Amino acid sequence: MLQKCIDCGKEFPVNEVRYECGCSGLLEIVQDLKAAKKAVSKKLFEGRMGSREYPYGSGVWRYKELIHPLIPDEKIVSIWEGNTGIHFGEPLRGYVGLGNFFVKAQGENPTGSFKDNGMTVAISQANFLGLRKVACASTGNTSASMAAYCAIEKMNGIVFVPKGNIAMGKLSQALAYGVKTLQVEGNFDEALKFVRANSLKLGMYLVNSINPFRIEGQKSIAFEMAQQMGWKAPDWVIMPGGNLGNASAIGKGFRELNEIGFVEKIPRIAVVQSKGANPFCRLWKEGLDSLIPVNEPHTIASAVKIGNPVSWKKALREVQASKGVVEEVSDQEIMDAKAIVDSTGIGCEPASACSVAGAKKLVENGIIKSHEVVVGLLTGNILKDPDATINYHLNKLEGITPKFQNRPVEVGLDFGQIKKAIEG
Ligand code: F0G
Repeated sequence: MLQKCIDCGKEFPVNEVRYECGCSGLLEIVQDLKAAKKAVSKKLFEGRMGSREYPYGSGVWRYKELIHPLIPDEKIVSIWEGNTGIHFGEPLRGYVGLGNFFVKAQGENPTGSFKDNGMTVAISQANFLGLRKVACASTGNTSASMAAYCAIEKMNGIVFVPKGNIAMGKLSQALAYGVKTLQVEGNFDEALKFVRANSLKLGMYLVNSINPFRIEGQKSIAFEMAQQMGWKAPDWVIMPGGNLGNASAIGKGFRELNEIGFVEKIPRIAVVQSKGANPFCRLWKEGLDSLIPVNEPHTIASAVKIGNPVSWKKALREVQASKGVVEEVSDQEIMDAKAIVDSTGIGCEPASACSVAGAKKLVENGIIKSHEVVVGLLTGNILKDPDATINYHLNKLEGITPKFQNRPVEVGLDFGQIKKAIEG
């Protein structure tokens, strides 16, 4: 296991604290898959699933041999993350137009988002290295997740969030779990640029997804999905694209699973961006050689309000390797798809609904075929952004006409009025 630059191939040991190469390329973890293959079996993973044995009952550490085989168990900081459900049924399938559409609800994680899958590994790595001060820039979920893991391990956490641009559920988590919360002027991209440039000088270990250990943990979403589907890869996995760490991780996870012979193929990766924050989609559709940042990203899906995604090269590699696609959807499409997801009782935050809105669009465009098996990732919990949900149902979102509105009814405690309200 080592760290390797994705641009020039230079290698670094796993215990060296660095996030990029001298050539400024991002680092990735290269696993010793030959050794891993000998150490694991489907039976081993089946036995751990549902167990309460620490840390192997976690949906991430169940796959420790494929994620971080070198870390001693006692250095692992875990709260049983992962173990999220795959759901299906109406009205989702009808809405998307697919008989075999599933959603994997990563919002069932301990802090309510898929970030826990990666964060447990980044914080464990910090613990392994004896680092006590960690930091991230975030649109909200990364900071909420980091804050919880810091609280468990009593680490000193500092989060940088764009002032006024983070959903209330997420901000409240950072404050409540007790990290130093810096609400900075400027957007997420600017905050991330700052922490990238200054984290070493400030003695902070950075746990944004440029940290390759985050990606290793997030791979477990692919592993768990395959296991839940009887060690079969779906035809497609669809996910929202923001900073593009997730697409990098899911692609890497399936490639590695395929390499050790646990799945027969890799699914096609579809990354779906919001139209107002779509630099990766533009790169894809216009066939550009490199990413042109969107300077003032705007979208109701604040989690993916990102104009300059750091992991675009890694994500591009995975989309290409899987013969995938990149698509974009409007805020209207996002919020209507979210209303459908919410109406199933599963629910999600706006960014997550990119997966469902994107699936619908790809089916309509004939890119996804009606017989194909498709899994959409629901990245964050419905409670993360109550403002967006309520304002949709109150029809108070600028530029959005709610197709699936469930308006609250104001009524006095009067029998006649209530009868009328119920029957009306
Ligand atoms: N969905 C949700 C709910 C997110 O919070 C994020 C990213 C994404 C999708 C996009 O994933 O960045 O890997 O492409 N949130 C980050 C944060 C940026 O700071 O919480 P990505």
